[in-house]
Amino acid sequence: MKALVYHGPGKKSLADAPKPALLLPTDALVRITKTTICGTDLHILKGDVPTVTEGRILGHEGTGVIEEVGTAVDHFGVGDRVLISCITACGKCEYCRRSMPSHCEHGGWTLGNKIDGTQAEFVRIPFADTSLYPIPEGVDEEAMVMLSDILPTGFECGVLNGKVQPASTVAIVGAGPVGLAALLTAQFYSPAEIIMVDLDDHRLSVAKRFGATATVNSGDGKARQTIMKLTGERGVDTAIEAVGIPATFELCEQIVAAGGTIANIGVHGTKVDLHLEQLWDRNITVTTRLVDTVSTPLLIKILRFHKIDPKLLITHRFKLGQILEAYETFAHAADTRALKVIIET
Ligand SMILES: NC(=O)c1ccc[n+]([C@@H]2O[C@H](COP(=O)([O-])OP(=O)(O)OC[C@H]3O[C@@H](n4cnc5c(N)ncnc54)[C@H](O)[C@@H]3O)[C@@H](O)[C@H]2O)c1
Ligand SMILES: [Zn+2]
Ligand SMILES: [Zn+2]
Repeated sequence: MKALVYHGPGKKSLADAPKPALLLPTDALVRITKTTICGTDLHILKGDVPTVTEGRILGHEGTGVIEEVGTAVDHFGVGDRVLISCITACGKCEYCRRSMPSHCEHGGWTLGNKIDGTQAEFVRIPFADTSLYPIPEGVDEEAMVMLSDILPTGFECGVLNGKVQPASTVAIVGAGPVGLAALLTAQFYSPAEIIMVDLDDHRLSVAKRFGATATVNSGDGKARQTIMKLTGERGVDTAIEAVGIPATFELCEQIVAAGGTIANIGVHGTKVDLHLEQLWDRNITVTTRLVDTVSTPLLIKILRFHKIDPKLLITHRFKLGQILEAYETFAHAADTRALKVIIET
């Protein structure tokens, strides 16, 4: 089968790989219909994720059709159309029972990381019963692909951890796919203001269309002053960090209001300063989280009832045979204006 294979930092190819086989009775084999590329795949290609070894098939998002199921799989059968969650989880260990499947003792984020992933014609999914979701009749499959990772990430790590409330003030730093997913899902709670911050004016204009009440280009180094002015010098109740660099986390520390929450989403590769000398008396909360995908059933229901349209995040479409071109397009988003790219097999 065709697959996107990682060969070490900076190296990848579209290669011929053996079709996966079931290894355990709880596995399912899924024929991929649609997949996509995540910012995290770019981190892997930079060599930032040491758990990914040479020869690994990348990808942790996608939809498909079940080709084969192990003898212990109860809830799915051959021919079922499914959403693949970026988190595969046993459903039984202590972390799974504590609604923290991201830290499952037998799974977690494994796809396209510790085991072969979804940027291929077929993928083996461990713990199929607790890692796959049926695609309901009438729900758009491309929109579903956004539920493998980015929608639950923006919602759980940003909006839920950030305790977005009716009439509250929110700032989201980073208007990439994840920041925009937080913007879409923050609106479930009717905050009064959502201020989006980025360096890219195109992404900020997309954010405006998606419901941001104000946008701030932080390229002038005055984002803090601008946001304080926008909020009557109070700051924001929720500051969501959706970039993953020290400057953006520190901006969140500077703009959080007394009693507010900093909800970190970004994957950080370097040391970031926590300014307790400025924050100790501010009654704030700082949260971190690896997406658990525990909100996926809720998000599927929201799609079924057309309460949000994550398909708006899709800007480009490719065939699996063009996946190298898809990576180029996605990696040069400032020039190509790419948000999410769909790859069809
Ligand atoms: N916690 C989790 O479970 C989880 C899951 C998925 C992704 N992530 C992480 O979330 C982050 C966002 O993901 P994404 O796919 O949207 O990434 P992305 O790279 O597409 O988007 C980041 C955005 O930040 C902007 N940006 C860069 N530097 C900036 C600065 N100094 N000030 C303001 N904006 C700046 C960029 O222009 C871009 O629009 C990444 O770090 C990703 O690895 C975390
Ligand atoms: Zn991802
Ligand atoms: Zn588990």
